[in-house]
Amino acid sequence: MHASVVTLFPELFEPFLSATVFGRAVQKGLLRIDVTNLRDFGEGRHRVVDDRPFGGGPGMVLLAEPVVRAVEAARAAHGPAVRTIFLSPQGRRFDQSVAAELAAAPDGFLLLCGRYEGIDERALEVLAPEEISLGDFVLSGGEAAALAVLDATARLVPGVLGDARSAPEDSFSNPDGVLDHPHYTRPAAWRELPVPEILLSGNHAAIAAWRRAIALERTRSRRPDLLPPASEEA
Ligand SMILES: C[S@@+](CC[C@H](N)C(=O)[O-])C[C@H]1O[C@@H](n2cnc3c(N)ncnc32)[C@H](O)[C@@H]1O
Repeated sequence: MHASVVTLFPELFEPFLSATVFGRAVQKGLLRIDVTNLRDFGEGRHRVVDDRPFGGGPGMVLLAEPVVRAVEAARAAHGPAVRTIFLSPQGRRFDQSVAAELAAAPDGFLLLCGRYEGIDERALEVLAPEEISLGDFVLSGGEAAALAVLDATARLVPGVLGDARSAPEDSFSNPDGVLDHPHYTRPAAWRELPVPEILLSGNHAAIAAWRRAIALERTRSRRPDLLPPASEEA
């Protein structure tokens, strides 16, 4: 998977990209993540990237010119066919199906992180990015959203997770598209709370049936919207 990020805060990405599953996948060549510093495209000696909003009001707005030049440079380095995505609370809602779509994008994707009040609208007109939102809340910047998108997509790339069986069983990704079943580990009895007997039985068919039943039950109570109408009636 090849992803690029344009951000005013590249240092926020470094620890994430070098640690744990991500770091190993980058080292193995399964992931390539290029981070472009918006500041490098700032104006003048002080590399200014923002200014006050026309029309008044609080905060600052990212200047169109540095944003467009930074994205154009990142696109040129990545490959011109890259899908360009602006992280924005006003975008299409990110979910597991969008993660799967991005993980499989043949030419990868580029994430543009906003800051302050946002980006001068004219830059968005010129770049014409897709817009993706993490949810109906407002973050201080697109970086936390970009990291969430990178994490959710990268773990779908074959070989990134230690055990390839893991991701297809997770919530939303399993064959029924429902929530995951609960998980237990040692010790078998902890604070007088025993592990469900069936999990110690060694009967794999019975365990699979129990897990599916409890996953459906939990989905019915927590997220009935994930169940098709017929299953809801069952
Ligand atoms: C403080 S927000 C600006 C919010 C903007 N004034 C609005 O109300 O739509 C600064 C930046 O954070 C990012 N951001 C904020 N909330 C987000 C969300 N829910 N999903 C993705 N990105 C978000 C965007 O890149 C945005 O440009």
